Amino acid sequence: PPTNQPYRTAYHFQPRKNWINDPNGPMLYKGVYHLFYQYNPNGVIWGPPVWGHSTSKDLVNWVPQPLTMEPEMAANINGSWSGSATILPGNKPAILFTGLDPKYEQVQVLAYPKDTSDPNLKEWFLAPQNPVMFPTPQNQINATSFRDPTTAWRLPDGVWRLLIGSKRGQRGLSLLFRSRDFVHWVQAKHPLYSDKLSGMWECPDFFPVYANGDQMGVDTSIIGSHVKHVLKNSLDITKHDIYTIGDYNIKKDAYTPDIGYMNDSSLRYDYGKYYASKTFFNDAKKERILLGWANESSSVEDDIKKGWSGIHTIPRKIWLDKLGKQLIQWPIANIEKLRQNPVNIFRKVLKKGSQIEVSGITAAQADAEISFKIKDLKNVEKFDASWTSPQLLCSKKGASVKGGLGPFGLLTLASKGLEEYTAVFFRIFKAYDNKFVVLMCSDQSRSSLNPTNDKTTYGTFVDVNPIREGLSLRVLIDHSVVESFGAKGKNVITARVYPTLAINEKAHLYVFNRGTSNVEITGLTAWSMKKANIA
Ligand code: FRU
Repeated sequence: PPTNQPYRTAYHFQPRKNWINDPNGPMLYKGVYHLFYQYNPNGVIWGPPVWGHSTSKDLVNWVPQPLTMEPEMAANINGSWSGSATILPGNKPAILFTGLDPKYEQVQVLAYPKDTSDPNLKEWFLAPQNPVMFPTPQNQINATSFRDPTTAWRLPDGVWRLLIGSKRGQRGLSLLFRSRDFVHWVQAKHPLYSDKLSGMWECPDFFPVYANGDQMGVDTSIIGSHVKHVLKNSLDITKHDIYTIGDYNIKKDAYTPDIGYMNDSSLRYDYGKYYASKTFFNDAKKERILLGWANESSSVEDDIKKGWSGIHTIPRKIWLDKLGKQLIQWPIANIEKLRQNPVNIFRKVLKKGSQIEVSGITAAQADAEISFKIKDLKNVEKFDASWTSPQLLCSKKGASVKGGLGPFGLLTLASKGLEEYTAVFFRIFKAYDNKFVVLMCSDQSRSSLNPTNDKTTYGTFVDVNPIREGLSLRVLIDHSVVESFGAKGKNVITARVYPTLAINEKAHLYVFNRGTSNVEITGLTAWSMKKANIA
């Protein structure tokens, strides 16, 4: 890859070169975190993958390990697709992933470490019994839609269970398989859950969370009335990672969401560019950690020039909100070790139509937290009940469209003359029932003078009372990515952007208010971020 790299990230995970997609097989083993990922060793676009592998002591700095899951047997001769790790009794890690066999049929492949005394688990071997799950004429499994096994969980009956993403016609399926020995797997009669018309469900994930809003995570096999279960699927059609919260009935081995069904109108982990995520239980800190992939928004020509494509988002701690209706996500605490040279703004009125530069930080590589107090409600606009799509509303009412209360927020990766910026902001409306509606947007339309980028604007409604609770925003800015956490992690939007002027030391950060009401900044702290050791 070339040396002049304005878009390479400094603290987001990415290999030195080539294409990456899904995070695979995350786990903690003997004090070392493992991250595997879909990797094409031969170029910057997707190609028959092998697994990349990196290890870490803190989920921030990573040491590259040898590629693994290379095509070794018929079961994965045409590629090693996504999969997950499970720690078996006696602290023995096992990985199950999807292999593409000689007929390009999707089958499940079991792998074990060659040497469990090596905490880096450098070398893996494929079990001779592979494939351990495969489509047959009897089981009606669609051979091109049978992939991405989850981490397995084990119930008190001693039987392991896992999910595999699939579809039948247009019905999305989370197929359930069971095994006593991890080698012989039998398909359950019914999927754990399914939903009509939502298409192929990729990369399923199924895990418990504490029901009382405790931020601690729980191991994947935990059941009981003190936990709720989360089912997440990656929708192949819309490329959204959607989830529902519900109950796992272990007698029926079935899942029921608390509200509605699982489809594209379900909640999302991230309302921006984000896909194929996966969680694991971090036993050292009793946290559940979420990893995800953010692909490029640049052209293939540009990706070829820079020599790489795809990054992973900052690992997020994930837990159930106190009210039980949604998950909360927050960047892992270790990322704060990269913070340096903070600058602050305290208690300052952000006047209507004004803009303040946050100076003294490396704005292309920064972490910023801001909180607002909202008092001035005279001009708040009425919410129109026909505005059902927050994303569309954000693209119609972008950062340059003046409003009653908002837009106010941050202009990230901004050039001095504001030819370029990525705006992350709120707008507040009042609905007919007098409740406030909070819209959070990430507007990429002005992110770059390069016309070939995908500059889609993203948006989401935030379930918060902005008057009572205030409004907060945290942004992780890293050269070509802006990860935005609204309302203390209730809603997240990730954007990929490629400024041409606002690069490196020419990038700026501003707080802005283009509404006709004042808002108050109760506090802002912004840090320059050190570079992590990654590739
Ligand atoms: C999701 C996905 C998975 C598959 C892998 C192949 O991005 O399509 O379903 O296993 O990528 O690289």
